[in-house]
Amino acid sequence: MTTISPLIAGNWKMNGLTHSLDELAELARLLTTGASPRAVVVICPPATLLAAVAAQGASSGILAGGQDCHMAASGAHTGDISATMLADAGAQYVIVGHSERRTDHAETDDIVRAKAEAAIGAGLKPIICVGETEAQRDAGHAEAVVSAQLAGSIPDAAEQHEVVVAYEPVWAIGTGRTPSLEDIAAIHGAIRARLVERFGERGETIRILYGGSMKPQNAREILDVENVNGGLVGGASLLAKDFYTIISAV
Ligand code: PGA
Repeated sequence: MTTISPLIAGNWKMNGLTHSLDELAELARLLTTGASPRAVVVICPPATLLAAVAAQGASSGILAGGQDCHMAASGAHTGDISATMLADAGAQYVIVGHSERRTDHAETDDIVRAKAEAAIGAGLKPIICVGETEAQRDAGHAEAVVSAQLAGSIPDAAEQHEVVVAYEPVWAIGTGRTPSLEDIAAIHGAIRARLVERFGERGETIRILYGGSMKPQNAREILDVENVNGGLVGGASLLAKDFYTIISAV
C-alpha cells in the first residue's frame, strides 16, 4: 500500500487583517513547541497577507498558498492575481475551483482546469476542489457529479506534477454539517478509483483532502477514514488553537 503524507490546509477565505499574523505566530509556537506535526501544514490567507504569511511561516515549516489564481500569467485583468505572482510572493500551493468561486464567479470545470494548469506552470501545487450540492446528493447523484468535476477540472499534467484533490460537499461548507463517515469513505473511494483509472499508479499517490465543517471535534474520525489524506479547513483554521488541534489529529 502506498503511504501518502497527509496535508492540512487552512483556507482563511476573505478573513484576515494584519493582526491575524498574531494567530499565525501562535500556530507557529504550538507547532514548534509540541510534538512535530505529521502533516504538511499550509495556510491560504487572503492575497494581501500572502507574502507576510510565507515569510513568517518559513521558520516553523508553515507553507503558504493562494485561494485562487487567474489562468493567464499576466495581462489586462484588473483585480486578478496570476499563479506566477502567487509563487513570487512565496506561495507553494493554490486552491482552485472552490465552490464559492464556482458559485460566485461562475467558474466551470474548463476554467478550473485552466487555472490548475497555470498553477502547475508557475511551479505551484493546485488544490483542486470538487463537491456536490445538497440537491445533487439527495437525488443520488453525488458520485456522478464529483466524477464529472474530476474529469473536467484535473489537467493531464497531473500525471507528471503534484496536484491535490479536495472533496468538499457544498452543503457541508460553513454549515456545521458533515457527511457520515460511511459517505465520506464511499466518495473518497470513488475519487481514488477515478484517479487510478486516469493516471494509473500515479493516481494512487494523489492526496485527497476532505473539506466542509472539519473541526477539532470531528477531525480525528474523518482523518481516519480510508483515502482521506488530509483536510481543507475553513472556519476552524482562523483560530490557531483549533487549527493546531486538527493538525495534531493526524
Ligand atoms: P469550512 O470551510 O471548514 O468553514 O466548512 C471549508 C472550505 O470551504 O474550504
